[in-house]
Amino acid sequence: MADRSFSRADSTTRPTAILGTCFHTPAYGSFEMLEQALIELDDHGVIERVTTPVDPAYRERLRSAREANDRKPGYLLELDKDEVALPGFIDLHVHAPQWPQAGIALDEPLEVWLNERTFPLEAKFGIEARGSSLGSSFTLPVYQDLVQTLLSRGTTTCVYFGSADVRGSEALAKTCASIGQRAIVGKVVMDDPSANPDFYRDTSTEQALAETEGFIAAIEGHSGKCAANDPRFPGIYPAVTPRFIPSCTEAALSGLGEIARAHDAYVQSHCDESQWQSSVARERFGKSDAEALADFGLLKRKAVMAHGTFLLDGEAEIFRTTGTALAHCPISNAYFGNAVCPVRRIHGQGVHIGLGTDISGGFSPSLYDNIRMAVMASRILEDGVDARVPSERRGANEPSRVSAAEALYLATKGGGEALDLPIGSFEVGQSLDMQVIDLKRPFADLTGNGVFTRPADQLERILYLSTPENIRKVLVQGTCVLSRDDR
Ligand code: GUN
Ligand code: FE
Repeated sequence: MADRSFSRADSTTRPTAILGTCFHTPAYGSFEMLEQALIELDDHGVIERVTTPVDPAYRERLRSAREANDRKPGYLLELDKDEVALPGFIDLHVHAPQWPQAGIALDEPLEVWLNERTFPLEAKFGIEARGSSLGSSFTLPVYQDLVQTLLSRGTTTCVYFGSADVRGSEALAKTCASIGQRAIVGKVVMDDPSANPDFYRDTSTEQALAETEGFIAAIEGHSGKCAANDPRFPGIYPAVTPRFIPSCTEAALSGLGEIARAHDAYVQSHCDESQWQSSVARERFGKSDAEALADFGLLKRKAVMAHGTFLLDGEAEIFRTTGTALAHCPISNAYFGNAVCPVRRIHGQGVHIGLGTDISGGFSPSLYDNIRMAVMASRILEDGVDARVPSERRGANEPSRVSAAEALYLATKGGGEALDLPIGSFEVGQSLDMQVIDLKRPFADLTGNGVFTRPADQLERILYLSTPENIRKVLVQGTCVLSRDDR
């Protein structure tokens, strides 16, 4: 393990109650502070009851939780005086095999970056890696490091593209299961020989479809801790994963739509990411990207499409009516998007929307960084960019800004809605996915030395200034999967 201060506990050390001050966003647009809340869990790590000091039952419940803790130490997890909790983050879009190149080569346009940097890297990943000298010895350490790094940034649920290698993608799913992160994972399909390099593509359409079915069976068939249908543990779920329309044949796209329907499986892909990507479906099918994806059966509830920077109003309406979610990846968009995604408009059109890092199109593994960028990009969209243009014509022709609390919603409850999972807030019935923030670390003091007193100010300090150093514990479905005790 990379960092000696990280330790992992199994579900036998799961607390049954948590006491502390929590921030969350049950509704879009505002936040709630639950001061000194007592959160009680059922046997599966799901929130059964939330009481605060104003509730008549609070004192009695707290007394009995403390007594239970005396009898069985570890029953009650009490946050320290300077600690508060946020919901675990939900990252809707990560390319796991791109982790070694995060921060590298972001100067090229998307299609050049894919062909020259990304495909050669992804081709190295696999358990019996295709002609790679690195193979298994490379794949597992990278995946383990990525999952731990994401957890250390507070990400408790993550939606991953694996690579085109099916066994390597299975290894990624197993890595998430053994470390204890909830994950949606897919084997990438890129079968078109005219669009992909010979060294990195599916050998045939039939094999790509068969491997996708095999992948779903392998993940759903896991016993014990891996089982998606075992409510005691965070799930590991398979996703049907056409890379994007430009890399797939029509036979693969329609075959994958059929597989997704037959298994009620998650789907993940890219939609309208850039000027170029947006134009490909139109040239090939005479339709927008979203219309084409929908016609192949790939837009539905539990489908997550990355980016949507160029999503037109009619396409947003297809997303809304099919229940498809958008993964907004604002850092990646600054490099490859050619525009700012109009999050406020798309959210207002009734589309499920959450946040993604898009490692490595986005360089940062942190959704904190993406919350910050989502807010900043939305302000730039509203105000415009060129000071030589008169202010009334400089920016978007509509209110576009997104607040920090709205961006927190996207990183938490918005992600839960996108995935149709009960995660993202501290409400009854939700899985207890939590990050514990120490507000008073050396050189990472989020308290402002008492200068501010409003809860909204405290939350904004956390969202804008937290570092990984401030994140001391991470719990997934009640189980502590990361604890930094080097106080
Ligand atoms: N479109 C197709 N593949 C990719 C990828 O790996 N990253 C990004 N940002 N866009 C893509
Ligand atoms: Fe991507």
